[in-house]
Formats: sequence, C-alpha cells, structure tokens
Amino acid sequence: MINRKELIKKYIDFFKLHNHKEIPNVSLIPENDPTVLFTTAGMHPLVPYLLGQKHPQGKRLVNVQRCIRTQDIEEVGDTSHHTFFEMLGNWSLGDYFKKEAIEYSFEFLTKVLKIPIERLAVSIFKGDKDAPKDKESAKTWESLGMKKERIVFLPKKDNWWGPAGQTGPCGPSTEMFYWKSNKIPVPKKFNPNDERWVEIWNDVLMEYNKDKNGKYNLAKQKNIDTGMGVERTISILNGLEDDYLTDSFKPIIERIENLSNRNYNKHKERMRIIADHIKAAVFIISDGVLPSNTEQGYVLRRLIRRSVRYGKEIGIKNFAKKVAEPVFDIYNDYSRLKNNKKKILQELEKEESRFLEKIEQGTKIFEKITINRKKISGKDAFLLYQSYGFPFEMTKELAKEKNIKIDEKSFDQEQKKHQELSRTSTEGKFKSGLADHSEATTKLHTATHLLLAALRKVLKDEEIIQKGSNINPERLRLDFNYPKKLTKEELKKIEGLVNSQIQKSYEVIMEEMSPSEAKKKGALGVFDAKYGEVVSVYTIKNCSKEICAGPHVENISELGHFKIKKEESSSEGVRRIKAILE
Ligand code: ALA
Repeated sequence: MINRKELIKKYIDFFKLHNHKEIPNVSLIPENDPTVLFTTAGMHPLVPYLLGQKHPQGKRLVNVQRCIRTQDIEEVGDTSHHTFFEMLGNWSLGDYFKKEAIEYSFEFLTKVLKIPIERLAVSIFKGDKDAPKDKESAKTWESLGMKKERIVFLPKKDNWWGPAGQTGPCGPSTEMFYWKSNKIPVPKKFNPNDERWVEIWNDVLMEYNKDKNGKYNLAKQKNIDTGMGVERTISILNGLEDDYLTDSFKPIIERIENLSNRNYNKHKERMRIIADHIKAAVFIISDGVLPSNTEQGYVLRRLIRRSVRYGKEIGIKNFAKKVAEPVFDIYNDYSRLKNNKKKILQELEKEESRFLEKIEQGTKIFEKITINRKKISGKDAFLLYQSYGFPFEMTKELAKEKNIKIDEKSFDQEQKKHQELSRTSTEGKFKSGLADHSEATTKLHTATHLLLAALRKVLKDEEIIQKGSNINPERLRLDFNYPKKLTKEELKKIEGLVNSQIQKSYEVIMEEMSPSEAKKKGALGVFDAKYGEVVSVYTIKNCSKEICAGPHVENISELGHFKIKKEESSSEGVRRIKAILE
C-alpha cells in the first residue's frame, strides 16, 4: 500500500534529486489572471516563465498543485473524474526537453514506483498542418523498451495540450497509460479507447505559442510541462479500480455511508458526487471564496447545492458539515484548511440551509402554479429554476409524484436562450487569453503598484495592502483593505500622485532575494506559505517596493495618463478601485 502523502514525497524527492526546486502549491484562485476562474493545472502560475521570464528558483521546478476543473462537474460519478484533484508536475523552463523528460517519466514509473513496463502504454502526437509527427518521442520510448504495439499516434484532440486560455504556450504531448484491470490480462496491443487503460501522466512538450489569430508559432523557449494525477496514480498503485477507494476519498465515502446508513456499493455514483463536491467546496472556501451568483462563488454554490440534491436522494439532510469533517484529516498537510476550519464548516452549513429553504419555497410555488392543472409549462419550470433556484430535476420529481406533465421541450428552449446570454459573457472573460502579457496589461501591472503606494500615502495608512488584483487589457482592478468609502478629494489626490510619479520617469528595478530579506527591506507582500525560497522584488524609486511575479515596464514614463474610473465596496472592509491608462 502506498498512500497519498508517500506518492507526493516520492515524486518531489525524485525530481529534487535531479536538481529540480520545489515551488509552492498556490491558491485555487489564480492571481493576476482574469481569464480563468480556477487553477486547473500546475502550469497556470508559471505562464510568465514559460514565456521566457526568468524564474527566481531556476529552470527546473517541481511541485504538487491543488486544482479545480469545472468542465468535469457533469462527469463526476465514474471512477476517475474529480472536480478537485492534486496534480504532481515537473517543469523545464528552456532547459531539458523531450528526450530527458520522457526518460525521467519512465525512470520514475518503472524504477521508483516499480510499475512493470508490461502494464504501460503511451500515446504520441500524430502530426497535422500545424506541427509535424513527433518522431523523436517515439524513438525515445522505443529506446526505453516500449513495444511498438503499445505506442499509438493520435491527433491534436488527444495529444496536444494548451494553451490554457486562448493564447499562449502549448505543444504536442505524450501520455502514459496503465492497464488497471486485475481480472483481464494486459492486452498485447494498446487501444486508447478501452477505458481500462487509464491515463496517469501527461508530458507536454511545449514548443509552440498560439497567437491571437489562432496561429501556432515556434516558441523562443522550449519547455516541458508535465502533470500526473495523484488520485489516479495511488488508485492504480494499490490495485484499486476506483479512485474513491483510495485514502484521498475513502474516509469521506465512509462518512456518507454512516450518515445515510446505506452501502457504497449500491449508491456509488451519488456518493462519489457528494464526496467530490463537498471536498472541492472545502478547498474553494479555504482559498477565500464564498457562495454567490457570479464566477467562482457560483461554481461553489453549484457544487454545494448539487451535493445537497444528491444527498436528498440517499435520504440525508443537513450533512454538508459532517461530510466535510474527514477532508480536514485527509489533507492535514494544508495549513489553510486547518486554520480556516471553523469558517469553512460554517459557510457550508449556511449554504446548505439556504438551499433547503429554497427547496421548501420552490415546492410551495410549484404547488401553487399547478393547482387544478395537469401540466406545467416550460416557462414556469424555467422560472422556478432561474428565479427561485429550484433545480429542474426536483420539478421533474414533484411532477412525477403528482402525476403532472412538464413541457420539457419548451423548458430546454428557455434554458438555451439563457445559456446563449451567459456564453456571451463567458467569452468576454476568455477573450484576452491566459497568457496575456501584452503591452497594455504589462503597463497596468506597474500602474497597480503605483496605485497601491499612492493609497497608502494619501490615506496615511500603512496597514493597507493588496487584497486582490485583476487585470485585463482594458483596465486594472485593485482590492485593498480600508474601512470606508473614499471621498472624491481623496480619489483626486491619489490619481494626481500616481500621475506625478509617472512624470518622474523612474526605472522599475527587479531584484531576487529570499522572502525574509524582502520583508527586511520593507517590500510589500503577503508573506505566507505562498512564496518559495526566492522571490522577485520590484522597486520604483522613492515610491514602491513589492514582491510580485510581474510583468512590468522598464520605466514608468511608458505608462501615459492614469485615471480612476470607479471606487466601490468589494466585501466587508475591502474597497475596490478600477482604473485605466490613457
Ligand atoms: N498541463 C498539463 C496537463 O494539465 C500537464 O495535463
């Protein structure tokens, strides 16, 4: 038996032995990246470095990263899909490439984890009009003893990764698969469509950069980006055919079995959904998100409500808090979880009871609109769903109980109309692409530093720090702690101070040092576990010193004219300023 912590340790130790530096496991909420809601892979925080910026910890990195993938929400319920998962990854930033990356993967799988090569297979990029067939990877795998029958060549849809947004680093990948069935002997030939071959590791050979026009250009710097799923790997190493039986999930499943007095084997799908969603919710709240109707808060709300709905189906109510308890034991290596436990449990409980109230209210409204009727219109069903948060599945259930028909077709039409509207707004979100380090955003990053410095000076408050930042090519948005609304005069003064600084044409200087040295020198930063051994400190003379991953302009004279567009409340005790450069 090998458990979650042991696998993580083995992986990190192996790559450390090969001169990789361990980087921190960062927040699920990407910093300074308006284009994605969640950290979906270990490479997200590394985009600037994959694009060529120097990483303070060097060219070889390794870590375990918590991730959320929302496109998998509907797929959760089978043995190996999860909303929340941990990803092990190693990176080469312009250092080693294909051959060494594959050799490291092979050595780790077969020597450290002792997986027999007979149970492994690989897929490689087949080539198309954008990039040629990846013959070098094939040659490397063969030289390591991988049989030809266990190598397949697949198109872009299978063997290409990225960019994570619309533009940025990407490239062909080579994926490793493991034959998980214990009953059926390993087939000679690899069939990637057979689900008993599970993908366990993905080596992305990042040699391209996708631009705004959809063109794949050869990248200046060739990188390696890999990702291995912790849950899947411990599952196969322990001969299990179900990730929910590993130590990353089992205590949660057992808790659900106890509460419901039902057996996992009879309610696998529902119990997996509840376990997955509650775990994801715990982690999202621990990274500072609360249930709401927008963005990350909406995903969180959906996860909690979906689990409540499935809980109802196995006869449990008011359970979120109790199901969450084991999550804190499994992940006791996450101090954020430990430190915020009370608040996390409170929020889960609050959202669950809010939803239960909604269900009650929705049931009443359902009864009202169906008095003396044998049919409910699609519009009414949609209204219940849209305005009262009453899930359509519940409307269907009630209708069935009471022998009432639903016009499902017109419900679908109503929903489609609504989805089109929300898609338009999501597209807006992704428009600028993950790897947006355009001139406009670079300038706005530097302007954010000047703004923070000006706020501290004009408001005479040394306690003010950045609470959040979100930048797109059109504007900056800075959240900071301050108890009251800023007056017009204060805003004018702040704007004036930033503009007078810009006119002084100071250089922006980047230095690398340890976090404690940065603190000693008075650099602003969050100073928590987030930082690695070395950080980048950006200094603008007489004005600002901040720990930051950049990007920044070389001289603040490039910024032009700074203008505040809006000042508003962001949350309790936190104000938000939106500003532009003209
Ligand atoms: N970024 C790659 C993935 O998520 C490794 O699969």
